[in-house]
Amino acid sequence: MSQTNTRPQWSSRWTFILATTGSAIGLGNIWKFPYIMGEQGGAAFVVVYLASILFIAMPIMMAEIMLGRRGKANPITAMSRLVEESDASSIWKLIGWLGVAAGAIILSYYSVIAGWVIEYVRLTGLGGLTSLSSGEISTQFTDLLADPMTMLLWHTIFIVATVVIVARGVSGGLELATKLLMPVLIVLLLVLLGYSIAKADFAAGLNFMFAFEPSKITYEVVLSAVGHSFFTLSLGMGAVMVYGSYLSPNTSLLQVSLAVVAADTIIAILAGLVIFPIVFSFSLEPGVGPGLLFITLPTAFSQMIGGAFWGTLFFVLILFAAWTSAISLTEPVAAWVQEKFSTTKTVAACVVGFIIWLLGIATVFSFNDWAFSFNFLGVEKSDGLFDVFDILTSNIMLPLGGVLIALFAGWGMKRTISTQELQLPDSWYNLWYFLVRFVSPVAVIIVLLFLLFGPLFSGD
Ligand code: TRP
Repeated sequence: MSQTNTRPQWSSRWTFILATTGSAIGLGNIWKFPYIMGEQGGAAFVVVYLASILFIAMPIMMAEIMLGRRGKANPITAMSRLVEESDASSIWKLIGWLGVAAGAIILSYYSVIAGWVIEYVRLTGLGGLTSLSSGEISTQFTDLLADPMTMLLWHTIFIVATVVIVARGVSGGLELATKLLMPVLIVLLLVLLGYSIAKADFAAGLNFMFAFEPSKITYEVVLSAVGHSFFTLSLGMGAVMVYGSYLSPNTSLLQVSLAVVAADTIIAILAGLVIFPIVFSFSLEPGVGPGLLFITLPTAFSQMIGGAFWGTLFFVLILFAAWTSAISLTEPVAAWVQEKFSTTKTVAACVVGFIIWLLGIATVFSFNDWAFSFNFLGVEKSDGLFDVFDILTSNIMLPLGGVLIALFAGWGMKRTISTQELQLPDSWYNLWYFLVRFVSPVAVIIVLLFLLFGPLFSGD
């Protein structure tokens, strides 16, 4: 690998933490987390989610960063080096391939949804959502889904914006973008939180999120909480791995993982604390699903004094969050093309961006011309290939990638290597080792099996 000696590095562990946090915080935190929490009855979901983050996802995050830092390359090359180093079976190389494929597929639809966010920045910014009835607001969303050309335009712009950053490389692109965007994101979120505390029904929001009733923990709650803990931390596809490959050898993996996990979790909780008080103060429903962000909230913004202003801030916030995540979805794929074909980062980013853009067209037309319905193990899905991509990646590829990463770190890799990489006190190392060998894999395998076959058992 000719690039090995000149491989870029983060300028400090803080920029690594910032960039990885930027990857973790995205549509998952501000769109998916609140709507799943809304659907799953609030606090019960929060409790299971926190447990899953701590005991299942966090050890896997340490493992994934470790594999990247040790392998010092894109996920595919890194995994073949690690397999050789530990004399392990080639089957583990699947982790790399699975990751690069999952990254491309996820980004192809993630970009289309980010495109909806751009459309809502435009709509709210121009005052196009002011004083509309809730019926008119939901028609607006349906109209957008029926309009492939608008979606295609925003999808194209979002992919170009992502490619531009990735093409600029680690310090001029990834670091710079996250250094500029993350502080803005945090300020926007705090301003909106101020609004929710001062003007919305904050008590109702708090109560919804934290009034825990153990009886509300159902099997669906556990499944969605565990699945979401992977998605929200960007685990299982090599995003964190490739970011780890630019990390210096003497950084504490426990510390950086803790920082990223804490930041991601705090932001998700804050996003909930912004959204639900607004939803409740306008007597809207928290449990509407994916429409929470594009129908329920705009309804609130359209009725609120200064709603155009707050609404625009809110959608800009989501857009920035989605952008830094999209960068991390592109990076492993682009790094692989660059290192495999010995080309420049710019060429690699453009080629990868073009392929993902093409793939995204399938999602653009999933909501209109090419829509088809199918039954996925008992659940009716109506958005064609978009649903296929989402199920394939979130329900199958990411958990599978995550479990393989845990298993490789716990069983495939030589113990001396992980000891040396993690540099933890014995008791902490043993705890981590136990979690990646047994706890995370067993939990994820159960979840995977239930995700695939659960509807057969749930009796409805
Ligand atoms: N974590 C991001 C979010 O919450 C999405 C994301 C970025 C992602 N990179 C990823 C998800 C890698 C899975 C794998 O929106």
